[in-house]
Amino acid sequence: MCGIVGYIGNRNVTDVLVQGLKCLEYRGYDSAGLAMRNNKDLKIIKSVGKIINLEEKVKGIHDKYCSGIGHTRWATHGAVNELNCHPHSNANVTLVHNGIIENFRELRKELELIGYSFKTDTDSEIIAALIDSYKGNKYDALIYAQMKLKGSYALVIMFGDEKDVLYAMRKDSPLIVGVGNGENFIASDISVILPYTKKYIDIEEGEIVKVTKDDVLVYNESGKVSKDVKIASWTILDAQKNGYEHFMLKEMNEQIDLCSKLYNKFIEEDNYSEDIPDISKYDKIDIVACGSAYYAACVGKYLIDKYVSDGSVQVNVDVASEYRYKNHFYTGSSLLIVVSQSGETADTLACLRMANKSNVDTLAIVNVPSSSIAKEAKMVMLMLAGPEIAVATTKGYFTQVLELSLIAQKLGYIKGTIDESLKNNLISEFSNLKSKITSLYDLDYSSIAGKVFDKEHIYFIGRCLDYVLGLEASLKLKEISYIHSDVYQAGELKHGPIALIENETPVFCILTENEIFDKSLSNAIEAKSRGAKLYLITTDEFEFDEHYFESIIKVPKVNDFFQAVVNIIPFQFIAYEVANKKGCDIDKPKNLAKSVTVE
Ligand code: M6R
Repeated sequence: MCGIVGYIGNRNVTDVLVQGLKCLEYRGYDSAGLAMRNNKDLKIIKSVGKIINLEEKVKGIHDKYCSGIGHTRWATHGAVNELNCHPHSNANVTLVHNGIIENFRELRKELELIGYSFKTDTDSEIIAALIDSYKGNKYDALIYAQMKLKGSYALVIMFGDEKDVLYAMRKDSPLIVGVGNGENFIASDISVILPYTKKYIDIEEGEIVKVTKDDVLVYNESGKVSKDVKIASWTILDAQKNGYEHFMLKEMNEQIDLCSKLYNKFIEEDNYSEDIPDISKYDKIDIVACGSAYYAACVGKYLIDKYVSDGSVQVNVDVASEYRYKNHFYTGSSLLIVVSQSGETADTLACLRMANKSNVDTLAIVNVPSSSIAKEAKMVMLMLAGPEIAVATTKGYFTQVLELSLIAQKLGYIKGTIDESLKNNLISEFSNLKSKITSLYDLDYSSIAGKVFDKEHIYFIGRCLDYVLGLEASLKLKEISYIHSDVYQAGELKHGPIALIENETPVFCILTENEIFDKSLSNAIEAKSRGAKLYLITTDEFEFDEHYFESIIKVPKVNDFFQAVVNIIPFQFIAYEVANKKGCDIDKPKNLAKSVTVE
């Protein structure tokens, strides 16, 4: 969603801000703007649409600036137009804001009563006036704003009467300071600072940060705080396309090496390493997430229920936006697992906080090490996937499934439902996973895409693990190709959805499970009898009459603990190829944001 960049130093401020905003594009936005300072004045430039429009506008500016702030806006309050676009100024204060101020209407009325007027419909302009309204020093004005504001915010603030300083503070929205040599950066996303520095400081809630080109001073209610300067483990190369046409394609390809990276991290001397959390002491486990991360959670539940549980553990999964409004009857041995690539998804974070407040143990499977979820969970299993830039997750989902599978395997081994020999087989399969998935990268997905890319509706069917996988396959297709698609349990087709099948409706049949292959196959044939064109994803172990199908993709058969990560690869490619044929903006699909930081 919205993104923030701030810079103070000797480089060309306009260039740093525009490049920073480009790094933030993947998060999703509808307009962008900059505010820049020099000795004489403050210049604000805004534009609706892509950053390239803003870039065009700043081309003719040759003034030398010493500091500036920039913002990509994903509209929440007020229409998408230049007026509502950030930065916002009121009186002596100019700022950029990520988040939502819940009490902005009350604050606006209070401020109007004391003479402030507002040009925009945004909640963000109110913050500028609120800070300005405090009669005292700047630090106290920011503390006052922290006390008055309800909701979430990451803010970078410039005062009209102090030209060489940027201030920053945050609540429920990420913000870091990038530490340079004679220059400093402020950003909502670490990828912004990576071209210049790997050193950064985390800003904690309640802190006020004063940034000059040579100093970063952090204060909280007890006074000056000494902060650790951290070193980012991600590099600029991780956050670039490296010759791939799209980030999505690059990230799909990175899954191959992730197999060995995760193997080396989580397997030690032919055993599950200490880095895989031991969750055997819990008898009630809730797994909560949103979107694809929720679908990964469904795989985790399926594996534990079917292959691990001896009846002593009950696993529930829920989407975070539902879970947070339900009653939970935690026991003394409950665990909440949250799964999130970004670590900033508002609903998932809210569930984590709820559980922390109830003193329930929490475990986060999370990719971004400096994220709120990584910082606030009691236990953390990092996904180690590196920056994921494409809005549609691929390596994120892949890693989440793999890590949940490893947690399940270790749990089964401790509980005794997975014996020594099965454990050894699983570890050996894990070591071969890389070569198994590599074989899927050279298949011809383009011709399948060619047969379906112009259809209005596409359906997926499968049972059990195949159905759960279909959820992610269908989401991937719809979010980047905008084709309506849905997934049904194969056995449910006859109970209603088969009414949707018309002549030539594409139906992707996921049939990789031995026990249910024949049953799902007859459900697929029932759809074909009503006119469907069938596309089959199956493993190399079955024999059947191939003439029912338009295309057949055979994935390697692996143990069910790894089958979901193998099976997803063809669907990622099919979604990618379909979107490519339709000419869609693959990395930045319309209406979507990478990190959903509002409810
Ligand atoms: O960052 P998170 O893993 O918490 O994000 C959760 C969902 O928003 C995310 O998986 C979303 O569904 C993706 N666009 C799917 O490709």
